[in-house]
Amino acid sequence: MVCLGNICRSPIAEGLLSSKVATNALNWTVDSAGTSGFHNGDGPDRRSIAECAQHGLDISNQISREFLIEDFDRFDLILVMDASNYQALRQKARNKQDIDKIKLILNFVYPNENRAVPDPYYNNGFDHVYRLLDQATDQIIAEYIGT
Ligand code: 4NP
Repeated sequence: MVCLGNICRSPIAEGLLSSKVATNALNWTVDSAGTSGFHNGDGPDRRSIAECAQHGLDISNQISREFLIEDFDRFDLILVMDASNYQALRQKARNKQDIDKIKLILNFVYPNENRAVPDPYYNNGFDHVYRLLDQATDQIIAEYIGT
């Protein structure tokens, strides 16, 4: 799960998907990263932590890191929040196999619409981001476990 800073959107996505992976007893590795290293070593934004806490989800232990080229090898699916994240990873991709792993996360809810999870850093709207990512992660689980 990848956004720009790995402090607002992708930590929420990681928390939601990790919790659903555990509930469904799936053997998946879930992680998140930023296309930038601006916030390397920081915890999630306090507004993301608070929004998740309202839903009983604790994301406070996550640590921001920058996306690494080897993430293309470590993961089967690389889920980005918006077109800018997509372009940033597209630039880092080494080949078509890497490129094919990058998907806009909301295309799981709105196929082929290329909708963005809006960046809440300056504008708030953390509740909206949470709702979108909750729907997307439900759909990801449903598609991969075939329900
Ligand atoms: P995120 O939000 O990409 O959802 O983690 C942002 C966090 C930090 C910045 C921008 C977006 N920033 O400019 O520092």
